[in-house]
Amino acid sequence: MKFNTKTIHGGQENVDPAYGAVMPPIYQTSTYSQSTPGGHKGYAYSRSANPTRSALERALASIENGEFGLAFGSGLAAIDAVLKLLKAGDEVISTNDLYGGTYRLFTKIFQDFGIKFHFIGMENTSKIENHINENTKLIWVETPTNPMMNIIDIEAVSKVAKKYNVLLAVDNTFATPYLQQPLNLGADIVMHSATKYLGGHSDVVLGALVVKDKDLADRLYFIQNASGAICGPQDSFLVLRGLKTLHVRMQRHCENGRAVAEYLFNHPKIEKVYWPGFENHPNHRVAKEQMKDFGGMISFVAKGGNFEEAIKIVENLKIFTLAESLGGVESLAGHSASMTHTSIPKAEREKIGVVDSMIRLSVGIEDIEDLIEDLKQAIG
Ligand SMILES: Cc1ncc(COP(=O)(O)O)c(C=O)c1O
Repeated sequence: MKFNTKTIHGGQENVDPAYGAVMPPIYQTSTYSQSTPGGHKGYAYSRSANPTRSALERALASIENGEFGLAFGSGLAAIDAVLKLLKAGDEVISTNDLYGGTYRLFTKIFQDFGIKFHFIGMENTSKIENHINENTKLIWVETPTNPMMNIIDIEAVSKVAKKYNVLLAVDNTFATPYLQQPLNLGADIVMHSATKYLGGHSDVVLGALVVKDKDLADRLYFIQNASGAICGPQDSFLVLRGLKTLHVRMQRHCENGRAVAEYLFNHPKIEKVYWPGFENHPNHRVAKEQMKDFGGMISFVAKGGNFEEAIKIVENLKIFTLAESLGGVESLAGHSASMTHTSIPKAEREKIGVVDSMIRLSVGIEDIEDLIEDLKQAIG
């Protein structure tokens, strides 16, 4: 199956043996009857497995071109499960520009359990080897990064990871498998906040992991069941439904994203626009190679921009909703420093370019003329 067909049918054969329902039923049950101890039909207790969640997990594995999918109660719960593959003394190398909540989980929870983190810029992959030692067990990559839209060369990082026998995990939330498939580029684990583009309708919080390797999958399934951070059947259903239109939504997100990026770039009051589709983006060449298009996420800074100016712009927006999150059908705007990235100290934020005047847009799939008109009146 090709990608667009997979979003609709991947892993979805015979989802309802009882009545042949086309959509997987929502199995809203915690437990399953057994004829004799262990005599069940493959499901014993819904923390361990639930048929609706299984349908989603198979679909996730299919669209990421993996073998095994795992769904969790949130993107952070999925990341938490990956970190539980490690033990005290292990070291992780991570992109320095990443979702604030991931940074918080690493530094405020797992650092206290004796795991050491190195946050580095990975735009130049040769820098990674300087931080590898015998304790390095995981490389964590976000690309495009949040909110600077830096692009990391997944294939180049995977070569370093393989050379030193280190796991490579890629947070594919911003790109989605429509734009890039990290497992095809050599990553071991792909992670999603399915809350965003995969769900696509801002109505569910859910996380996902997809892997190819059976042993790795077994270790992660063990953690998923032992730690218990699973998602419920209703939420699994919502993401399954969202997935079926991922390709058409992404196509429009990309078209609208390009138009908004170009509008902002040519606007006399805008200083900088961060979007990997620009030819002068530092890693545009890599983006062009590893991504099918450039997505709908854009960050920008107004000229002479200060905190107050940025707040005024986001407050003026009428069609773009000022809100946390991204990837839904509706356009959202966020002020990174005071919303998504508050967990990263100001000095650390500013080192990587997340200044107080930065605004991040998740460009939705409305009519582009209305979105441009909205930005025009808000920027003034
Ligand atoms: C890139 C990225 N990774 C992970 C997460 C965390 O996902 P969740 O909010 O579903 O826990 C987010 C949330 O904004 C994100 O943007």
